[in-house]
Amino acid sequence: MRIVSGMRPTGKLHLGHYFGVLKNWIDLQENNRCFFFIADWHALTNKYKETESLKENIKEMIIDWLSVGLDPEKNVLFIQSQVKQHSELALLFSMITPKSWLELNPSYKDLKFNLYYQYLRDFFLGKNVKVLQTPPIKKVDEALEEATGKQKNKIYDEYLRELFFRAFYNKRGIDFKGLKENLMKLGLSKKIVEEAIKNLETGDIGKDIDTLGFLSYPVLQAADILIYKADAVPIGEDQLPHLELTREIARRFNNLYGKTFPEPKHILTEEAKLLGIDGRKMSKSYNNAIYLSDNSKEVEQKVLMMKTDPNRIKRTDKGNPDVCIVFSYHKLFTDKNTVENINVECRKAGIGCVECKKLLADSINKFLEPIREKREEVKKDIEKYINVFKEGCKTASIEAEKTMEEVRDNMKLWKF
Ligand code: TRP
Ligand code: SF4
Repeated sequence: MRIVSGMRPTGKLHLGHYFGVLKNWIDLQENNRCFFFIADWHALTNKYKETESLKENIKEMIIDWLSVGLDPEKNVLFIQSQVKQHSELALLFSMITPKSWLELNPSYKDLKFNLYYQYLRDFFLGKNVKVLQTPPIKKVDEALEEATGKQKNKIYDEYLRELFFRAFYNKRGIDFKGLKENLMKLGLSKKIVEEAIKNLETGDIGKDIDTLGFLSYPVLQAADILIYKADAVPIGEDQLPHLELTREIARRFNNLYGKTFPEPKHILTEEAKLLGIDGRKMSKSYNNAIYLSDNSKEVEQKVLMMKTDPNRIKRTDKGNPDVCIVFSYHKLFTDKNTVENINVECRKAGIGCVECKKLLADSINKFLEPIREKREEVKKDIEKYINVFKEGCKTASIEAEKTMEEVRDNMKLWKF
């Protein structure tokens, strides 16, 4: 099969990326023709103001990818912006893509929401508004618990996001008036809510992403995928709407100009199996990630900070591995016998959490050791490995140009 996937270069990668995405790619590289690229243009859609770290982040991504075993002999590894045909195809696609397809795209709404959410959260926290601690009014509370089936205290941020999400939207989209009412229902004072909303309406927050590039993000992504005539695209669940749109664009193009593109399937990467050390989703912004580039000391420190079974307070308390983050890691990193042993001993207080964590740190370090070695090798010879990506760009360009010739022909565009 032909496989295409990309990743935005937003900084060093962590174990969550590894188990969520990279491991999948590494499996796929064995029996498929894979095109994996660093989506640096896509990184610009919301970070166009902060380009000074872009080159460094791309380099970092090259190092991360190669150190975990993505093999340039088996795959075409490249950098999106160096294959200009992506932008040509995106431009042509933009001619046939109805605006409403983009505006209704849930990912667009999501991203917009994230920015607004981040803003409000920072705003309220900056004002010392205790929205995080104050339980919201009961009705919303219960409805949410029902809807998510989760216990609110454990995942407060997720919970809060959900609340905000509901406060944000009515059926037609963002609704500032409704937002104001809903935020006040959460127990926030009118004055502060009004100030926050006024900032949202008039400030830079919305404008930051009210760009053409941001809106047309999925059009570029469709071009990324279709230009290599991908059969399948490994992605996380959050990307499904983008792929749906890719198929719609392919269909529309084929209808208008004759069969040119396949309609690629998705290969869904499982929900992140790894939580951050605090039990929330692993993410740079939560400061709870273990990075592929962490040294053994850093790993040990982070593991020692991990949350365990909250009911096990004293060493003599019996623990429950089923609710312990440390244990969920053990299942991924530690050999079966030891895992079974911990499972038994923890329940009768036969093993202490510190000892258990030391074992885990060892397991993670053992896993990371070969990655670290490879990393050193790549870093030492970075110019050579950057060249590998340059070669990848050439190979990708040849493929992309083939498709573009067909596209221009089918569209009956000018040709000398
Ligand atoms: N949008 C993807 C993400 O944020 C990155 C991406 C860009 C991509 N182009 C792609 C993924 C093409 C798959 C295929 O993760
Ligand atoms: Fe978790 Fe290990 Fe402590 Fe049990 S012993 S609660 S599995 S850290």
